[in-house]
Amino acid sequence: MAYRIHSFDEYLAAYHKSVEDPAGFWGEIAQTFTWSKKWNDVLQWDFDGPDIKWFVGGTCNITENCLDRHLEKRGNKLALIWEPNDPKERFQRYTYKELHRKVCQMANILKRNGISKGDRVCIYLPMIPELLIASLACARLGAVHSVVFAGFSAQSLSDRINDSKCKMVITSDGAFRGAKELPIKRVVDEALEDCPSVKKVLVVNRTNWGLDLVPGRDVYYHEELAHVGDECPAQPMDAEDNLFILYTSGSTGKPKGVVHTCGGYMVYVGYTFQNVFQYDESDIYWCTADIGWITGHSYIVYGPLLNGATTLMFEGIPTYPDPGRFWQVCDKHSVNIFYTAPTAIRSLMAAGDEHVMSYHLNSLKVIGTVGEPINEEAWHWYNIHVGKERCPVVDTWWQTETGGIMISALGNLCPTKPSYAGLPLPGVQAVLLTNEGKEITQNHVEGFLAIKFPWPSIIRTTYGDHTRCRETYFSKFKGYYLTGDGAKRDQNGMYRIIGRVDDVINVSGHRFGTAEIENAINADPHVAESAVVGYPHPIKGQGIYAYVICKKQPGNEENLRGEICETVAQQIGPIARPDKIQFVSGLPKTRSGKIMRRILRKVAEGEPENLGDITTLLDPLVVEEIVKGAM
Ligand code: WTA
Repeated sequence: MAYRIHSFDEYLAAYHKSVEDPAGFWGEIAQTFTWSKKWNDVLQWDFDGPDIKWFVGGTCNITENCLDRHLEKRGNKLALIWEPNDPKERFQRYTYKELHRKVCQMANILKRNGISKGDRVCIYLPMIPELLIASLACARLGAVHSVVFAGFSAQSLSDRINDSKCKMVITSDGAFRGAKELPIKRVVDEALEDCPSVKKVLVVNRTNWGLDLVPGRDVYYHEELAHVGDECPAQPMDAEDNLFILYTSGSTGKPKGVVHTCGGYMVYVGYTFQNVFQYDESDIYWCTADIGWITGHSYIVYGPLLNGATTLMFEGIPTYPDPGRFWQVCDKHSVNIFYTAPTAIRSLMAAGDEHVMSYHLNSLKVIGTVGEPINEEAWHWYNIHVGKERCPVVDTWWQTETGGIMISALGNLCPTKPSYAGLPLPGVQAVLLTNEGKEITQNHVEGFLAIKFPWPSIIRTTYGDHTRCRETYFSKFKGYYLTGDGAKRDQNGMYRIIGRVDDVINVSGHRFGTAEIENAINADPHVAESAVVGYPHPIKGQGIYAYVICKKQPGNEENLRGEICETVAQQIGPIARPDKIQFVSGLPKTRSGKIMRRILRKVAEGEPENLGDITTLLDPLVVEEIVKGAM
């Protein structure tokens, strides 16, 4: 690709140019993509609105860039390898030609069922090829996809569907995940009891349960296929038309729909995929994320396909049928680039070295991590046992809101350092701010991580609530996009992400607002009030610690804990279940009624000695009780 960086000096030159002349820099990169109409202006922006537009006036379709433009040269090249949950089941492969055909067919099915440009389509599917195909089919028609991770509860699903008034849901009968079979369609049916906007449900057969469908509303994908053709023209989209919505948790209220648009997102994820992973034409690339999260959107679907790469998609989990599964898949498909989450690394590390030692892993050349800070021990284990000390470890920092990777090494071109994400990518003007919002210019410092200039895939809005977007990211410090993360910068300008500085907990790389979990706990009929904090967890990174006040003294505490966990699983999903629940009679509150989370965090972290000043509390005695009862 024309935008490939080949050396550290080229990185420095690209970075310099991206700051001196952002429009020139991104304009040149954008030209290597296919546009149906060229833009008039590379960039118009104002962070106060925020009002950010890239490639203004240009039109394109991202699927034409992911599929059609490769057909001539790479038509018979593998676009997708799908590895099932059960190693005994056959894997599937799709060439670019085949994937193009599948996407066109699916797009025609959507069209036949009333979907057109601008409609929102909710995709609630396990990690099967149809998830990738459905996302691209929406993009082909200009319908806005909202993929919801198929582990979320019916309640979470219906909240998301209603927030963006989706017209259709694409789902499957069931799912295989590890040793479990999950009733996916049943969750959808329950969610749809309360979703008036949904007119159609498209059901993909995965478990072949032969479910009865709701007449007039549900249709089977395999039956629809008989009615559609193999060609579907790509809808030309304005660069700033919405491409997708992806819900993510913040520190307050319900999850918000982060909106990404067509042109800028395409250019940025294409550019970053190529450079961070130093992708070469014959490489097999595997990202283990679920497409239900941003990592899957950008670096399973769009980034690899924009570059004509072979992307591997895995249905299962790292520990099924045993903790060697990831490494077995790497050897089986000769994976060259492997991208996973620190929590997976830590859990496989804990399972014992023998599982990784029995595989060669000699095809690997770049290995990456994403989603949360990686501790030094896990970094070294990954480097030694997986990368065999010959693969660079790219620790990639970014967010749902940033669309693509922001701070990371570029393959082996840049220096790496355990637990440091590294240097900002070209186009990323990262800064650290003090409490007062002043930029810290020297090195060897710590502060709030912010970005002071737009990059092409920056969040455009939060769906249906632009004020919320402004207030969350652009208000506290004027003129900056605020990330919500704290970071250190070392002598050489390398960044180490410390973690969230807001009320967001990152559990196994998944974000939850403390308020969101508290609301779920409070939905339990026994609970009067609760407060949730994060605490260090050896595998998950952060665990969820809940302090709960019951309406009346619990009889059997263990049973009640189980019940509360079940309530949370129903309200949000099993991944948000608290790890620890401590029953308390009161919470440490200030006289104005604000919960002092600092104290709760210290107790949860097992450091009750350092509680600081507690004299301003309404009732300092509750602290004593909380410390005594700590889990
Ligand atoms: C955290 C995932 C340290 C961070 C792509 C961020 C990280 C949040 C890293 C975004 C990393 C992500 N090192 N922390 N390499 N990558 N984070 O939206 O706190 O699911 O704000 O996006 O994950 O999570 P999200």
